[in-house]
Amino acid sequence: MLNVFKKASSTSVARIDPMEIEITIERGDRLLSSALDQGVKWPHRCKVGSCGTCKVILVSGDIKPQLNFGYVLTPEEINEGYILACQSTLKSDIHVLIKPRSRKGKERQ
Ligand code: FES
Repeated sequence: MLNVFKKASSTSVARIDPMEIEITIERGDRLLSSALDQGVKWPHRCKVGSCGTCKVILVSGDIKPQLNFGYVLTPEEINEGYILACQSTLKSDIHVLIKPRSRKGKERQ
């Protein structure tokens, strides 16, 4: 059978660490909203890409940003692989890492 007629998958899988959770996400749905809908306790506040609370490290896979992350994340964070979960749709299966935060909102060492 010719692969040109093969329908692309309409879902992707997101592996979320350190919780060791895998969720399935429909194409075009955002990472944060899909995770929350599936019961994942994900730090967040605004859900519109302005607070940075939902930031996460993209370990592997491809996402499509729904806005320029540079409005919220520092150049250093972007270089470290941070993305905004509330403003990311998936282009492939992905693996992300949520870093724990201190009470002041900074990552622990
Ligand atoms: S929840 Fe505020 S930037 Fe994502």
